[in-house]
Amino acid sequence: RLLRIGLIPGDGIGREVIPAGRRILEALPSSLGLRFEFADLHAGFETFEKTGAALPDRTVDVLRGECDGALFGAVSSPSKAVRGYSSPIVALRKKLDLYANVRPVKSVRGDAARKPIDMVIVRENTEDLYVKEEKTFDRPESEGGKYAEAIKRISERASSRIATMAGEIALRRQKIRESSPPGSSIHERPLVTITHKSNVLSQTDGLFRTACRAALSAPEFAGAVAVEEQIVDSMVYKLFRQPEAYDVIVAPNLYGDILSDGAAALVGSLGLVPSANVGEGFAIGEPCHGSAPDIEGKGIANPVATLRSTALMLEFLGEEEAAAKIYAAVDASLEEGRLLTPDLGGRATTEEVVVDILKRL
Ligand code: NAI
Ligand code: MG
Repeated sequence: RLLRIGLIPGDGIGREVIPAGRRILEALPSSLGLRFEFADLHAGFETFEKTGAALPDRTVDVLRGECDGALFGAVSSPSKAVRGYSSPIVALRKKLDLYANVRPVKSVRGDAARKPIDMVIVRENTEDLYVKEEKTFDRPESEGGKYAEAIKRISERASSRIATMAGEIALRRQKIRESSPPGSSIHERPLVTITHKSNVLSQTDGLFRTACRAALSAPEFAGAVAVEEQIVDSMVYKLFRQPEAYDVIVAPNLYGDILSDGAAALVGSLGLVPSANVGEGFAIGEPCHGSAPDIEGKGIANPVATLRSTALMLEFLGEEEAAAKIYAAVDASLEEGRLLTPDLGGRATTEEVVVDILKRL
């Protein structure tokens, strides 16, 4: 099978880690029967400064017309609003209808300092407060003065399809557990936790909740996937105290955004945490971190988040076996703990870590 992958390094350390994604794909054993073609594409702040567009049309056209998936590094956002600039990844999610943001968060085995964590946060990516329909109103001081409001939009269709994806991920994780040695997972059965605040927002979050419930009671999940609900604030509490209790979490856009950064903090470094933006038949792997200007150009960026994002992209392109090989090579390297980048307390360079993981592959 030939897979055509767009490579969008973006800004800062994106340019140092995305090449690692390409190298690990090229190093996959030929017995898997995969071949790759790559397209070098541009987006980000530097692209904006050079060309006037943060997301050039060509990037979108090539992704749409010629690619099966992509890897996206990171982009810098100016600290002050710059006219004409807006985040290219947000635009890409919209243009390619990448309706889910999937973020696995997993601790390193044998890291006694931390609680064992092995969860996936599945965040709805197209609606909720992030439809960005905001308005500011001027009102006389006597009536309370200026105010602003934002629309929170929740649809049955988007809620239902994100819950279905969460259910499918829970089943897939169970399949992987069943073929792994006993004791290698902290979970015994698939569980999806629906997060919302329907006690306060009974219409919007209420719809999210009932649509998720309905989707997860479909025959493919009934009996196979346990479903529970949790109000988002109490979820944060439990996530920090008892993270091992979660398997797959499904959340509307805003809560999912917050929960997934919080969960990433529990495993030690942003440099470890991958994500994927997923739509019908297309996936973009994207490390969760930003462009990290403080370490840019030093050759010490942790490549693990990108390598795991590459595996995650493969998973959503239906190449689970190839993905499993990458995860295993990364985990083995981290568990041995001999070559760690400075964010994990080590002294290794990006290159040394990549070479170690490629060797294990
Ligand atoms: P950041 O994720 O770039 O960095 C936060 C801290 O984590 C820094 O100390 C950095 O050195 C460290 N770090 C991040 N990734 C690392 C890696 N792979 N290896 C080792 N250390 C790593 O977030 P920050 O500093 O808030 O933002 C910097 C720029 O990135 C800003 O312009 C921001 O807008 C942008 N950004 C972009 C994102 C994206 O493209 N999805 C996400 C977050 C921020
Ligand atoms: Mg975020």
